[in-house]
Amino acid sequence: MARASVLKMPDGFLWGAATAAHQNEGDNYNNQWATWEEQPSRIRGGARCGSATRWWDLDVAAADFDRAAELGLNSLRLSVEWSRIEPEPGVFNAGALYQYGQMIALLRERGLRPLVTLHHFTDPLWLAGEGGWENPHVGDYFARFVTRVIEALGDQVTFWCTINEPIVYAYSGYMVGNFPPGVKDPVRAFNVLRRMLLVHGRIYRLIHSLQNNAEVGLAHNMQVMLPANPDSAADRRAAATVDHVANRSVYTAMTSGRLLPPLGFGQQVPQLIDACDYIGLNYYTTVRVAFDPRRANLMLARLAFDPSGELSDNTFSGGPYGEINPHGLYLALKQVAAYGKPIYITENGVPDHDDDVRPRFIATHLAEAWRAIQEGVDLRGYYHWTLVDNFEWCEAWQLKFGLFEIDHQTGARSPKASAGVYGRIAQSNGVPRSVLEKIAPLTVADYFPS
Ligand code: FCB
Repeated sequence: MARASVLKMPDGFLWGAATAAHQNEGDNYNNQWATWEEQPSRIRGGARCGSATRWWDLDVAAADFDRAAELGLNSLRLSVEWSRIEPEPGVFNAGALYQYGQMIALLRERGLRPLVTLHHFTDPLWLAGEGGWENPHVGDYFARFVTRVIEALGDQVTFWCTINEPIVYAYSGYMVGNFPPGVKDPVRAFNVLRRMLLVHGRIYRLIHSLQNNAEVGLAHNMQVMLPANPDSAADRRAAATVDHVANRSVYTAMTSGRLLPPLGFGQQVPQLIDACDYIGLNYYTTVRVAFDPRRANLMLARLAFDPSGELSDNTFSGGPYGEINPHGLYLALKQVAAYGKPIYITENGVPDHDDDVRPRFIATHLAEAWRAIQEGVDLRGYYHWTLVDNFEWCEAWQLKFGLFEIDHQTGARSPKASAGVYGRIAQSNGVPRSVLEKIAPLTVADYFPS
């Protein structure tokens, strides 16, 4: 419980917003998402990413970075687009690398520490044509690309995220098929996931060999799995199984190097041992898991949502949306902390078209993060997904995750109420009691003694 009037985060805490190249830059037509968007009924309403939020125009990006700095943020997460930098195999676009250098300089001038993601869902078309992450040579290709990026940007960036959410890339692209390449085959999905993790280990070591002060991690999308009925041993077992497959196997691989089933047979892979300086936690929702004997090929488990819980705009079951549960963030942090690495919340957010949930969402999730820190969790930063409403993959423009709204006709941005709330929190380096009193009064007693 806090004695002061602010749930203070540790000194040096990073307050950021998270973004991604394809979702923000615009005019990326040389990756597999651009061709996916052209296929009928892949994207909600047949929408396209098009010019996105126009960040490839540096004046537009700079104005948004001003907005982030004015809120009081001190960091920003973005990704570099492989297909811009290496439009053909082995052919590098010096102009694109130069422009990323300028973009990053704009962040630094504004006191925003760049966290750069090297792979955020998109692959160059040439790589997709060669089988993408099913191609055994993808690690060589990615290493060649990353080497060029570090050479070009390493004087300005030391904070790297190798791959964003391997589990989502593999699950959505190869199991559910709602992301390119639209495959529905669990065996191929786990092969892709395993390959991404192995390549992560290789890239972790590569970056350290090129830059001695690098801080390198991977962002994992963690859905917290709770038993639908906590009194049922079968539900508890089902939740633990799904949690193992979706979360623990990934954390274990990137820390101890062991490939547990379904990634392997427990063998230890040297390149993955201790292959992260931090764990990036992307937390959106909590899921309830029930034992279901009819689902023999789905781990005997059925995913559900707490009927009394609060749901976000998208109730797509199994996706990154669904039950809003701030306490789930506390549980996630405690679970991740067991792997002994510093943690950054590399994404947390909610699709909320009228911004009536987001202010409370931000304050209550950060209060739960604070609670975890009090219990010894080494959490060093928080990145809200996202700054400006952007292209939400197959949900396109329908789901609005931004702190700022965008008018697509004029390109104008306007802050939502949540931007003000997040700004107050960042400027206070913690959640002020007055913020909770105003937007989540029922939670105040959980954190402040009366
Ligand atoms: C995450 C993705 C990110 C964004 C958010 C809402 O899974 O990393 O690009 O789409 O979900």
